[in-house]
Amino acid sequence: MTDYLTGFGNHFASEAVVGALPVGRNSPQRVPFGLYTEQLSGTAFTAPRAENRRSWLYRLRPTASHSPYLPYQGGPLLRSAPFDELPPTPNRLRWDPLPLPDGATDFVDGLTSYGGNGDVAIGVGIGIHLYAATISMERRAFQNADGELLIVPQQGGMTIVTELGRLDVAPLQIALIPRGLRFRIDVLGPSRGYVCENYGLPFRLPDLGPIGANALANPRDFETPMASFEDKDEPWEIVQKFQGRLWTTMIDHSPFDVVAWHGNLAPCRYDLTRFNTINTVSFDHPDPSIFTVLTSPSEHPGTANCDFVIFPPRWMVAEDTFRPPWFHRNVMSEFMGLIEGAYDAKEGGFAPGGASLHNQMAGHGPDQASYDKAIAATLQPHKIEGTMAFMFESRWVIRPTRWASETPLCQLDYDDCWSGFEKAKLT
Ligand SMILES: [Fe+2]
Repeated sequence: MTDYLTGFGNHFASEAVVGALPVGRNSPQRVPFGLYTEQLSGTAFTAPRAENRRSWLYRLRPTASHSPYLPYQGGPLLRSAPFDELPPTPNRLRWDPLPLPDGATDFVDGLTSYGGNGDVAIGVGIGIHLYAATISMERRAFQNADGELLIVPQQGGMTIVTELGRLDVAPLQIALIPRGLRFRIDVLGPSRGYVCENYGLPFRLPDLGPIGANALANPRDFETPMASFEDKDEPWEIVQKFQGRLWTTMIDHSPFDVVAWHGNLAPCRYDLTRFNTINTVSFDHPDPSIFTVLTSPSEHPGTANCDFVIFPPRWMVAEDTFRPPWFHRNVMSEFMGLIEGAYDAKEGGFAPGGASLHNQMAGHGPDQASYDKAIAATLQPHKIEGTMAFMFESRWVIRPTRWASETPLCQLDYDDCWSGFEKAKLT
């Protein structure tokens, strides 16, 4: 028996107490056990049916009962769109891994913003953060009104306790937390990872086109928690991100008191090792969009607000082909992270927990060592193993924060990995 419900964007139903979930209607006059009914809308009421996301929650107390929010003084390195602390740079950037905090820091206070684009006020763009946490969130929950959160753990397992149930997530898995859903993160030890805060349209599975009905991330591999609740009358802090700033209020009970729920707006996790990787069996290799796990569309078809793309273990069999990623200038902007192993376009300098940014039209590609190795290689079938890199790719330029630009983690010698390429000889 699984602890999870499977499928992406399904209309789920779950009850932690038998008989708690109303049958046949969403809002009966009297709910079983006197539970309170609440709808959580992730899209406008009138969004097209295929886009519409909402869930019905049945809980011990209504969310509406709380005192006014006050400005929150923590989260010192969290920033939000518009990212206008500094002029956006055309330079390529790369960062050493984010160190773990020395002291006791939880997920919220351990968020460090690297950059982003768009504007929370108009619901466009993304924020890119890393988290580094040493302790669990103790009697406090986080709620992000500005966007959904795609969490990519790199080190350390965690339990994400949400209003709709509990998600166990470890490196090589991801979690997707809908906009506005309250959650806390209990870490199993020192933890670090990446977060894409999506201000735009919710992530969904990409179309498959001529690939067919299967492959890439298959819907059945996404797992949503079953209803699970806490009945605890004790002080709890709610930290909310709203229009770029953090706010705080207190309530007198655990906010994780949803006894039953149904709907298609729900958190989920996905195991990246289940990704059905597609690539060439002849020559060249397709654009890295072939590795898209999830996409947040913009109003321009095929031009994403954000694509979440991975570079998983895979066989390389292409004949007469330069196998690593080619040199590239892109109208889209590319932020990369590394969960484990090494990335096949970079022999060194890009470490797990590190990051790189290649903005719109910035020339990038394999470093000298990787290039020399690739053009000299004997092209036998070869398996790239033990690696998992990923990319947040966006149609808008990613603007680094002041911290990301000035931190000593930012490698001042990054450009050097492309110096020394010899001029091609025509004769
Ligand atoms: Fe690229």
